[in-house]
Amino acid sequence: MHFISEELETYIADHSQIEPELLAALNRETHQKILQPRMLSGHFQGRVLSMLSKLIRPVHILEIGTYTGYAALCLCEGMQKNGSLDTIDINEELESIQRKYFDLSDWKTQINQHIGDAIQIIPTLNKKYDLVFIDADKENYLHYFELIVPMMNAGGIILSDNVLWSGKVLERPDPRDLSTTVLLEYNKKVNEDPRVETVLLPIRDGLTVTRVL
Ligand SMILES: C[S@@+](CC[C@H](N)C(=O)[O-])C[C@H]1O[C@@H](n2cnc3c(N)ncnc32)[C@H](O)[C@@H]1O
Repeated sequence: MHFISEELETYIADHSQIEPELLAALNRETHQKILQPRMLSGHFQGRVLSMLSKLIRPVHILEIGTYTGYAALCLCEGMQKNGSLDTIDINEELESIQRKYFDLSDWKTQINQHIGDAIQIIPTLNKKYDLVFIDADKENYLHYFELIVPMMNAGGIILSDNVLWSGKVLERPDPRDLSTTVLLEYNKKVNEDPRVETVLLPIRDGLTVTRVL
């Protein structure tokens, strides 16, 4: 679903920083070879993630849902020199394309790939994060939030993708549609939880910026 016209979306992308070459190549290869290429953040959202990361200047970053590694590389653009990015994906078939592009980037020794279920892996990460990007299975968004809030530094930022879920958040959810039901609860939770403050940005499919107090 497009929340604004495709014409305006094109105008916005044309008037935002161009897509870096490595990311354009990854974007192309993902579309040519990988199933469900719409999962990739893409040019405009990628530039938003890069800019937010440059404003935050994180040391440690966590991404939940690597896919082919596009957003991970965007988030690394703002990472401090001594920083690290942990990124988790349950699909082991994506590991080689992720590694190929991580190795071609400036952050090849700073990116840690984790293959497996994020619910199992997050509690094993022994770090305090400044920036977290939640972009995996929507059914677990509330669980991810509860796991990561205690792992955040004060002032740290949690970005959550797809929180408008193609506009389904405005409809009465079918009780069998767990993703929409959880996202409705999630959007309420991050706006009311006293440990955080939140603003929901209408970027692409909805991107929440949550600051940990
Ligand atoms: C929307 S894609 C991530 C896109 C990526 N962040 C980007 O912007 O380029 C979601 C990813 O989450 C992964 N995923 C789904 N459930 C998961 C789970 N329980 N644990 C870890 N990864 C999971 C999927 O395999 C998929 O690659």
